[in-house]
Amino acid sequence: MSTLKGKVALVTGGSRGIGAAIARRLAREGAAVAITYAASPAKAAEVVHAIEAAGGRAVAIRADSSDVEAVRSAVAQTVKTLGRLDVLVNNAGVAAITPIDQVSLEEFDRLMAVNVRGLFVATQEAVRHMGEGGRIINIGSVSGDVALAPGMAVYGATKGAVAGLTRGWARDLGARGITVNNVQPGPVDTDMNPADGPLATQFKGQIAVQRYGHADEVASLVAYLAGPEGAFVSGASLNIDGGFTA
Ligand SMILES: NC(=O)c1ccc[n+]([C@@H]2O[C@H](COP(=O)([O-])OP(=O)(O)OC[C@H]3O[C@@H](n4cnc5c(N)ncnc54)[C@H](OP(=O)(O)O)[C@@H]3O)[C@@H](O)[C@H]2O)c1
Repeated sequence: MSTLKGKVALVTGGSRGIGAAIARRLAREGAAVAITYAASPAKAAEVVHAIEAAGGRAVAIRADSSDVEAVRSAVAQTVKTLGRLDVLVNNAGVAAITPIDQVSLEEFDRLMAVNVRGLFVATQEAVRHMGEGGRIINIGSVSGDVALAPGMAVYGATKGAVAGLTRGWARDLGARGITVNNVQPGPVDTDMNPADGPLATQFKGQIAVQRYGHADEVASLVAYLAGPEGAFVSGASLNIDGGFTA
């Protein structure tokens, strides 16, 4: 597979879970890949080594998405190290389940800073380097559309904001040949939402295909959007949820 040969991708939060699967898949498609991480340097190094062992090119950059300067610097380092930037995958995200009478302003600010402001800053910086054929792919959530359980309002609000930014940026950037899309997973088996975790029993009963998704399945959709076949998709929020919201 070489749909992304010669391209450079930056995946935020690429050390674990969905972001790690996306980084490996884009590398398999021929892209040189930069990943950011905040707390898991060893996991980030594993992703880089796996890509290099398969003959690809990768680099890991420590950049907490809530730190504006770190995010800007990660974009600059990607361009400096790998030579250009074609695909930005805004994947880094945090979740919390806290009902309204218990959620603190600190938690509200943390979710907004990582899931919304970090994505905004990365995109603003990345598009300065992107030309015709550029791709912005945000990882939102079906939580942006649907309140899945009590305590998920703030997380859902961050993902609703991601959908709104996606639509607006598709308009801002379309004339430059850059597409912007929002991939909205349902329950996917990762550290954030393990298939045997506290919400799993409730969630599994609501998923039409009766199982959690795999990170690789989300990565497939991202690879489609990043490649030439996805060129006419823009401004879209695409659910990948096994019929969870059907
Ligand atoms: N799993 C699901 O069911 C599901 C469903 C819908 C949407 N999503 C979305 O998919 C994305 C990935 O989720 P996941 O399930 O793969 O989560 P995960 O297993 O918890 O992995 C999160 C990734 O984001 C990174 N990250 C977390 N905080 C960060 C920060 N402040 N700065 C930079 N990187 C940070 C982590 O890196 P470090 O460990 O290095 O910090 C890790 O690589 C998120 O945006 C999430 O909201 C997940």
